[in-house]
Amino acid sequence: MSQADRERWNGRYREQAGASEPSRFLQSLADRLPSGGRALDVAGGPGHDSLWLARRGLEVTLVDVSDVALERAAAVAREAGLPLRCERVDLETEPLPSGPHALVLCLNFLWRPLFAAFPRVLAPGGLLVFAQPTRSNLQRNPHPSARFLLEDGELPGLLRGLEVVSYTEGWTEEGRHEARLVATLRP
Ligand SMILES: C[S@@+](CC[C@H](N)C(=O)[O-])C[C@H]1O[C@@H](n2cnc3c(N)ncnc32)[C@H](O)[C@@H]1O
Repeated sequence: MSQADRERWNGRYREQAGASEPSRFLQSLADRLPSGGRALDVAGGPGHDSLWLARRGLEVTLVDVSDVALERAAAVAREAGLPLRCERVDLETEPLPSGPHALVLCLNFLWRPLFAAFPRVLAPGGLLVFAQPTRSNLQRNPHPSARFLLEDGELPGLLRGLEVVSYTEGWTEEGRHEARLVATLRP
């Protein structure tokens, strides 16, 4: 990723005031998520999902390329007395933090080579939770643009070394056409 791209994300987060809600998809999985152990939030932005997981007792590492997002997440965590590890990582050129993680979360970020890396950072029995809009999303939403979208039906074919627990693709209650996957590393 170029410095210009990093600055674009930083600028976007500087303009966005206030905290975002944790993902409804993630919250819908509450009963299936581990209640302890390590979790990795991949490209987790300002940490709304990381902080929700930390409140549930997970030891979360948040990685993102935006310093502004990471600083914001770290400040909220400090204020709330929550442990949160924040690491600036360019996921296009640098490796994921090593595991093992009981949970790896990757929402609204698509870098296809990561699918080969997910099994290496998951603990046996650990979960990958992934969601990303697909090309059909453009029928109702101009963003994200096509280069950030999955093809319809593409997601299961990207998975490497993991077993699908659940997979859906369609219009969400938030009005996005999204592919959603939960997968596990067989013990
Ligand atoms: C659409 S946001 C998603 C944030 C969060 N996961 C969510 O669902 O709200 C995409 C995130 O990816 C981060 N990002 C973009 N390119 C990246 C890269 N090469 N390495 C790490 N993070 C990156 C951005 O800074 C941004 O926080």
